[in-house]
Amino acid sequence: MPAFNHSGWRPPADAWTRRDVMRNGMASFAGLCLLGNVPGTRRPGSKAVTSAALRAQARAPFEPFRRDLPIPPELVPTRRTRNEEFFETTIREGIAEILPGFDTPVYGYDGIYPGPTIRASTGRTTVLTTRNALPFHQNVHLHGGLQAPRDDGHPQDLIVPGGSFAYRYPNDQDASTLWYHDHAHGANSRTIYFGLAGFYLLEDDLERDLELPRGKYDVPLMIQDRAFNRDGSLRYGEDIDLGFLGDTILVNGAVAPRMQVERRLYRLRFLNGSNARDYRLRLGRGRVMTQIGSDGGLLEFPLRRRRFTLSPAERADILIDFRDYRPGTELVLRNELGERSTVAVMRFDVVRGGGSEEARIRRALRPLAPLPRPNAERSWVLSMAGTEWHIGGRAWNPNRIDCRPRLGTSELWQFVNRSQRVHPMHIHGCHFRVVARGSGRVTDDDRGWKDTVRVAPDERVTVQPYITSFPGRYVFHCHALEHATAGMMLQMEVVR
Ligand code: C2O
Ligand code: CU
Ligand code: CU
Repeated sequence: MPAFNHSGWRPPADAWTRRDVMRNGMASFAGLCLLGNVPGTRRPGSKAVTSAALRAQARAPFEPFRRDLPIPPELVPTRRTRNEEFFETTIREGIAEILPGFDTPVYGYDGIYPGPTIRASTGRTTVLTTRNALPFHQNVHLHGGLQAPRDDGHPQDLIVPGGSFAYRYPNDQDASTLWYHDHAHGANSRTIYFGLAGFYLLEDDLERDLELPRGKYDVPLMIQDRAFNRDGSLRYGEDIDLGFLGDTILVNGAVAPRMQVERRLYRLRFLNGSNARDYRLRLGRGRVMTQIGSDGGLLEFPLRRRRFTLSPAERADILIDFRDYRPGTELVLRNELGERSTVAVMRFDVVRGGGSEEARIRRALRPLAPLPRPNAERSWVLSMAGTEWHIGGRAWNPNRIDCRPRLGTSELWQFVNRSQRVHPMHIHGCHFRVVARGSGRVTDDDRGWKDTVRVAPDERVTVQPYITSFPGRYVFHCHALEHATAGMMLQMEVVR
């Protein structure tokens, strides 16, 4: 365990899986059919099982397109006033059926994986009372949300076992696809892996007026890679350098599922909820998709995309017009950065019907607010030092403030990657625009308001954060969770 794990506790999850691995005494269940293909999960000395019978038996639950896409249930408010909406959730252990016929222990909000979807509206505060029924400290961070430091899930603000906390989200920001997850430092690479992540969909009037697909035509998709033990339990292996890389792709908690789609326009809200894996997604052999939003909400104009890249924590809001396809068409969504078992992400099966379409794709979506001229410039070198990852030559230290931007101003932050790994850099308490990339011009993956940006090996990326949240402390970090665990997180104090 890294020395900077100030709180001194660790979740039992690691022990729990380690015990399973020992009991099984062999390679991962998934490993049976995928031996040797997954750099991040291969372990020196693990014994290969070659029995054809075992292999065949093991393969079935991992075959793609066998299960229908699950949609996480929506959390129902317990109470509502004019200006506030109240929700409650309990973080606890649960059982998920990820592999058909197997019970997989998970950590879940209300025990389910992925967590329930929370819907919220701009202008009305969400109060999320969270009870911690796990035997170790937890908190909740609303990723992409602009909330006060006390409500932001700062790694030092933890809910003790048996305790609870009421997070207040003012929702004073544009409609966007946000997500919530654990942010307990030293724990969350495991707790998120074992299930603690869910969608938070924020709506506003401007977006409603655009007549985008709604209801069952508006689908959140959480993409995550995982590995399994023979008994169907999740297997986690910490790799500080590469980050965790699993050999099985899940969407909303199901192995590369299929989804029946009518001949309609669909809004697909993609989230890369993986610990460390990047995806470059392509539909069929490169069919056109229309991107309408990114991390911070709607883009200015729709963008035609034949592929798009998502690093951990990034979102892409995509429209696909299935009226372009005949019933019976099967369209596979592929990950161009995957190998073998991590290529197939999901499949869309076009079916008859769909009725008449009311949704449409407008020419313009939302004007992007201008940014004030930058008030300061900062440069952050991203590098590895022994078993730590550093930002600007420093590892996480909760007792140190690393910079003090002014509320209401914007700054230029340059991330200089001096390593051979991708770092998805995420800043709390603000949104930013990507203004320059060393490797060339800003790409289509950089459009709109962002909260997480992919910084490729040896690349420099300049972003312009607009500090519009609240005074106080916020963290910024690499969202490759194992990198953050290994120190790749600093904090700023927003000052007046
Ligand atoms: Cu998605 Cu600091 O978090
Ligand atoms: Cu965040
Ligand atoms: Cu990183």
